[in-house]
Amino acid sequence: MKYIFANWKMNLGIRESIALSRAVMRILRGEEKTPIVSIFPSFTVLNDVRKIMARSRVKLGAQNCAIEKKGSFTGEVSIGMLEDVGCDYVLVGHSERRTLFAEDNELVAKRLKSAMESRLTPILCVGEPASERESGNAEGYVSEQLYSALKDLKIPKQKDLFIAYEPVWAIGSGQAALVADMVFMHGLIRSLAKTITDHQDSKIHVIYGGSVDAKNAYGFLREAQVDGVLVGGASLKIREFEGIVQSASEVMLAQEL
Ligand code: 13P
Repeated sequence: MKYIFANWKMNLGIRESIALSRAVMRILRGEEKTPIVSIFPSFTVLNDVRKIMARSRVKLGAQNCAIEKKGSFTGEVSIGMLEDVGCDYVLVGHSERRTLFAEDNELVAKRLKSAMESRLTPILCVGEPASERESGNAEGYVSEQLYSALKDLKIPKQKDLFIAYEPVWAIGSGQAALVADMVFMHGLIRSLAKTITDHQDSKIHVIYGGSVDAKNAYGFLREAQVDGVLVGGASLKIREFEGIVQSASEVMLAQEL
């Protein structure tokens, strides 16, 4: 199986979200073998998108969640509320949260723990900034992010553990990681995650994010180390997104996944 996750970030209002959700449904209808697709829209349109995706295989995800269950936390959205609106997934520690909203490793670990204890499946996002890659410390930096998020985490046996490798310099830059570098990092992430958590291998999924588009998606998705992609900008353009979904379908057909 391959996973195609669409992170719409803070881009679409109600009408645009409804139109794009309908278009996503249409492209999936034509595919013989489809990857698991999930859309991560803004909080304000989760309910609208859910209604369109109801009774389809398309999943719903949130871009963030509160750590606390309930109470006086103005502006936060709890995990219970996300469950209530029909979310399956939630992103945790996206690089934009880490860099623009000062989420450090400790806070990300708490958020991941809260989400892991719920019915949602969290997707832990990691990735090094350009300076760390240039100084040869990409592995060390990502290992530290993983270690601090996973070291005290209890993962229920039946639950999936998703980790998105999104190098900060590749996000929104049009400069995706080289396939060889990405495959190497995915291997490292998978083996570290396995060592730290002792979770069942088949339940650990490592996906790539950072300037994925219709042209480069096949090259990433055909790699065995790549369980899927987390797409930002290209998920807002239906032709690009269609190309990415088609690439996943082709890989799944060719590799009998
Ligand atoms: P882009 O695909 O726009 O580079 O964004 C990636 C991302 O941040 C997905 O979470």
